[in-house]
Amino acid sequence: MTPTTTTSSSSSSSSSKASSKTMTTTFTKPRPPTITSMQTSLFSHLHKSSWSGTPIVSDEIRRGGNLRIFSYLDLKSATRNFRPDSLLGEGGFGSVYKGWVDETGTAAARAGTGITVAVKQLNHEGLQGHKEWLAEVNFLGQLHHPNLVKLIGYCCEDDQRLLVYEFMPRGSLENHLFRKGAMPLPWATRMKIALGAAQGLAFLHEAVKPVIYRDFKTSNILLDSEYTAKLSDFGLAKDGPEGDKTHVSTRVMGTYGYAAPEYVMTGHLTSRSDVYSFGVVLLEMLTGRRSMDKNRPSGEQNLVEWARPYLNDRRKLFRLIDQRLEGHYSMKGAQKAAILSHHCLSRDPKSRPLMGDVVDTLAPLQDLKDMANSSHQSTSNSLSDRSRYSNGNGSSHHTHSYHNGYLSPHNGPVRGSSNATQLPSYHQSPRQYSRGP
Ligand SMILES: Nc1ncnc2c1ncn2[C@@H]1O[C@H](COP(=O)(O)OP(=O)(O)OP(=O)(O)O)[C@@H](O)[C@H]1O
Ligand SMILES: [Mg+2]
Repeated sequence: MTPTTTTSSSSSSSSSKASSKTMTTTFTKPRPPTITSMQTSLFSHLHKSSWSGTPIVSDEIRRGGNLRIFSYLDLKSATRNFRPDSLLGEGGFGSVYKGWVDETGTAAARAGTGITVAVKQLNHEGLQGHKEWLAEVNFLGQLHHPNLVKLIGYCCEDDQRLLVYEFMPRGSLENHLFRKGAMPLPWATRMKIALGAAQGLAFLHEAVKPVIYRDFKTSNILLDSEYTAKLSDFGLAKDGPEGDKTHVSTRVMGTYGYAAPEYVMTGHLTSRSDVYSFGVVLLEMLTGRRSMDKNRPSGEQNLVEWARPYLNDRRKLFRLIDQRLEGHYSMKGAQKAAILSHHCLSRDPKSRPLMGDVVDTLAPLQDLKDMANSSHQSTSNSLSDRSRYSNGNGSSHHTHSYHNGYLSPHNGPVRGSSNATQLPSYHQSPRQYSRGP
């Protein structure tokens, strides 16, 4: 199968960022480059009325969740009329705004009071949006885990589809790893995020009714104030195979650079496809490089292909590790993580580990102190270490501020900052890790 590509003139995203958007089929509006699959008519069974007619929608929503049902006006007022300076980000399916709602109800709250939320307003040019919205409501409404973002509620009114999440103050892993001007994430934080994200995926795969996430990538890993990773975006999630079935057959959706090769080739989806994507993200964390980067020389644009030869070779490993870490990483940890990533990226899906195994491998890598650059050993993961990362003047933790609630260095590109708030200085979470419920 050869996915076709559409191009777009839109978006504030850079070209490399744009290519990391979720593949989809039915948008009519110019969008960032996306992959479309063969079966563009998949959603033809979704009659227009299921997009605009609430009664049918209410049948489609699985019972049992504890979600708040917001009115459009509630959310309009919670986000200050979807003000551009409340914009947290834009994805393939809509824009995300910061807002405030009542502690318990659905009414909007004054800025800085009640609960801080992220409100995703889906584009409504295509039926695809409804399907995504419904999947999100149905999966996140039922699944609860410390490494999944919490869905607080939704709005479904006429042709409006919105989702209301807990606000994640440190934004996405993508921003921390790749945004121009962002300070390099310390090694220990990368390992913490890798473990948290792995725990989230393991939880999904090990659920009584297993779920395949299908869109694991850095922009879908959100971070709370302590860098706890939380998976967001269940729009493409699928129930795993049932009975003696080995896979689910789907059209190919996901994101270039993250989707497992056998899934792209056959449309056969298994939980091992998520494991492959996890391997890609782990590699991005090790290298500080994007899975696909058209701005690099031709042999380096595809991260997995470029990195494969280094992953299993101790002597070459240092060439792979993010230069911006300046040697502030555990040698043993880097080796183990590289081997793990290699394992996850096995071409044969059956050779990939289970996410539970990934969790077990990452858990002991959390506190290693054998720094590659030993002159920095005693201070690794400390505030002074972070200071050195920034500009060598020891003031990194003073150079951060909140922009729309995201931690940004002052010299980084920022959007409007009407909600500027100082973040507490960096600290490691004392939280213990476990596999989760
Ligand atoms: N709960 C949240 N709290 C804080 N910021 C969020 C939250 N949800 C999303 N965002 C921000 O909004 C951005 C856009 O999210 P969205 O999921 O719509 O798109 P994306 O992940 O970048 O791309 P894609 O369409 O492929 O999923 C995210 O990258 C993140 O920066
Ligand atoms: Mg997303």
